[in-house]
Amino acid sequence: GSGLNEVARRSGRIFGASVRMDQVSAEPGLANAVASQCGMLTPEIHLKWNSIEYRKGQVWYQPVDALVKHARQNGQTVYGHTLIWEQGTPDWALHHLHHKKDWDFVAAHFERLLKRYHADIPVWDVVNEPIDTQNGSKGLRRNTFQRVFGSGYIEQALHTARHFAPDAKLMLNDYSFEYDNHVEADRRATFLKLLERLKAKGVPLDGVGIQAHLDLGKGPLRHQIIGPFLQAIADMGLEIYITELDVKERDYRATAAIRDQRVADEVARYLDIALDQRAVKGVTTWGLSDKHSWLKVERGDRVDRRRYGNPAPNRGLPYDVSMKPKLMYKALERSLGGG
Ligand code: G3I
Repeated sequence: GSGLNEVARRSGRIFGASVRMDQVSAEPGLANAVASQCGMLTPEIHLKWNSIEYRKGQVWYQPVDALVKHARQNGQTVYGHTLIWEQGTPDWALHHLHHKKDWDFVAAHFERLLKRYHADIPVWDVVNEPIDTQNGSKGLRRNTFQRVFGSGYIEQALHTARHFAPDAKLMLNDYSFEYDNHVEADRRATFLKLLERLKAKGVPLDGVGIQAHLDLGKGPLRHQIIGPFLQAIADMGLEIYITELDVKERDYRATAAIRDQRVADEVARYLDIALDQRAVKGVTTWGLSDKHSWLKVERGDRVDRRRYGNPAPNRGLPYDVSMKPKLMYKALERSLGGG
């Protein structure tokens, strides 16, 4: 075979992307790329609690079932995203937790997903985005789970997940660890402390997901910042996956060719640092095509209004809106192949 996963595989790694089955079924070009490039698929939304059970009692497994089947047919593995994430939890469930303070209710959610999918999904983000250093809560994100169950909810979640999935790899996944600024320095330090605490207590944790939503507005990526951070994680015996790679542009005024070069350079710079670390087992991009990127032009970005009007103007994924591979694809290929 060829494709990005084949390149990654030769150096003992895996390449994947997040997918939505509604998009994969509707777009043959996307389906082709998913099949030919990816060794691992992450459901972009389908496994979140508010996708599984948006309305209380109406459980909807169909898109996850379809994804798992698709992956099995194509010899791909699946990355489970995510068991706990406040933003991905339906309001009725948050309301229930707030009033009943009922861990069994959380455990029952884990149980149904882990029992149904443990054979097809060997790795899980047990808690997504547990940290936040900006709110005076000593680094843990204040959310319903933290308020109701206290800061121990993270280890409780890991123990519960281990109970229902004895063989799965259990992960914590978080963002903003890349750049050389105070906010991200605090986030790195806080995350490492959390991991150390969990490891010291013998909590079942196998690895971490580093989202890696890169941002062209955040300054140069530095080996001396990212390298030691990843090394500290590796030294705890944890595996690392780059789970949500993409690039937010800030200046949309240049030609597509120039913008694509900037995006590709950022990806190459990041991966050349991250893949120096052997504990990094895989790289997943958050989607394949700019058409479906969650990244959009924001207030404060520099936009040429005459050129604007493109429905998905951010060019931070390997394929453009018409599934043409861009320079970012080449950068991935080169970096995954060892430079
Ligand atoms: O399906 C409904 C549609 O029926 C409705 O009309 C529409 C109106 O808002 O909403 C649609 O649901 C949206 C869903 O994506 C499908 O498009 C949700 O509102 C929207 O919140 C959801 O966004 C996803 C987001 O997570 C929240 O689940 C993004 O696609 C997804 O890329 C994003 O992914 C997150 C990771 O899980 C965690 N890390 C950050 C990353 C980016 O935000």
